[in-house]
Amino acid sequence: MSDSIRIHGGKPLEGEISVRGAKNFVSKAMVAALLGSTPSMLRNVPDIRDVGVVSGLLRLHGVDLEYDVEAGTVSMDTTSLNPAEAIDIAAHAGSSRIPILLCGPLLHRLGEAVIPDLGGCLIGDRPIDFHLEILKKFGATVEESGDGLHLTAPHGLKGIRHELSYPSVGATEQLLLTAVMAEGITLLENAAVEPEIKDLIDTLQKMGAIISVDTDRTIQIEGVKEMRGYDHTALCDRIEVASWASAALATKGNILVHGAQQRSMGTFLNVFRKVGGEFDVVEGGIRFYHPGGELHSIALQTDVHPGFMTDWQQPLVVALTQATGLSIVHETVYEQRFGFTKALNAMGAQVQLFNECLGDRTCRFGQRNFKHSAVISGPTPLTGADIVVPDLRGGFSHLIAALAATGTSNVSGIGIIDRGYENFRAKLVALGASIE
Ligand code: EPU
Repeated sequence: MSDSIRIHGGKPLEGEISVRGAKNFVSKAMVAALLGSTPSMLRNVPDIRDVGVVSGLLRLHGVDLEYDVEAGTVSMDTTSLNPAEAIDIAAHAGSSRIPILLCGPLLHRLGEAVIPDLGGCLIGDRPIDFHLEILKKFGATVEESGDGLHLTAPHGLKGIRHELSYPSVGATEQLLLTAVMAEGITLLENAAVEPEIKDLIDTLQKMGAIISVDTDRTIQIEGVKEMRGYDHTALCDRIEVASWASAALATKGNILVHGAQQRSMGTFLNVFRKVGGEFDVVEGGIRFYHPGGELHSIALQTDVHPGFMTDWQQPLVVALTQATGLSIVHETVYEQRFGFTKALNAMGAQVQLFNECLGDRTCRFGQRNFKHSAVISGPTPLTGADIVVPDLRGGFSHLIAALAATGTSNVSGIGIIDRGYENFRAKLVALGASIE
């Protein structure tokens, strides 16, 4: 498939599309299947590249996996589980950080696990320091070798009491996947409680786990000796839904998103309405539309759940370039998530970035020279440009900008978008976009 797309913009996106299961849940649920001694069945699985990556990793470990793309089902049988070589894991995983999440389940089932050197700072402050700290605390021994990290658990894994310094999604998942079969009780304070994590907890409970979540972000897990497989339907991808909603707003369009679930995206819906977008929650989905008139500027900051997701930020910023006045967006989850605005400015937007924490709260990036606050002044007409997409969400935001712009844009590097947006080219065509 071509890695670039030509978009003749300036047309409202109108029509209906469907969104299936959440990328950021499906990959973790597939990893959870490793814990079950009987087969698991995951449903509502989207056809995205990340599912292919995790499927490859599981097969490498001997999992008998069948993926029916059309039906959106993945069945996984772990009867013949075996260890894999770091070099093969690295070849399958690419830059994905999923291998780190396999460690707990593999230590329980096989007594060993490997994390390949994925490039970048493997043992530095980021990106997996929280994960390694947790695994070591459970009793894992981590040894560095030429091709990565080798983990063993000579004395088994034992329940821990742990407080996260930041409610990291991945670290919370790491702890859950390890604690469910660790000996004794585990208590996690300052946990992430995203809907995708709640769905993972539901899945683990189906498998035999005993997990309770308190309102104060504390999760308690009572370890069990054995777990079975599950049959579970993934929750909808609320990031993809919000991306299409933002596309409807930026292009003055009207999109019915089948599969969208109101309950997981209340915070987004509030902001969408404050900006001047409208939506109708209907049977089986949500219709998002621009009701006419001006869009309004807003001040918002990204946050962990139940705050405004960092992954919603980039698509919405494109719509904010069409709002009247000054909008302020303070990014508090990732320190460098505004790189995509350079291309927006080249298309006519006026987005200024600041090192300071703008808004009513300071965050951990405040004193560290990261341009993590944006001021967007609008409305500014956008014109087509040649763009190379930087990352998954930034890339989809560039597509939205090209669709909203007058004239033609050539957007290259769009393969990245296949990591998290199922059949986005076909969906764009279904919505009336003029693309080649
Ligand atoms: N962090 C550390 N050390 C760690 C782990 C995280 O410093 O060991 C920091 C990160 O650098 C970041 C913050 O903690 O500043 C939060 O990261 P978190 O661990 O919560 O994120 P993640 O688990 O790596 C998942 C999603 C992201 C999503 C975030 C926040 C997956 C595969 N990824 O990442 O999704 O933005 O949670 O909700 O689930 C995306 O879909 O495009 C995406 C980036």
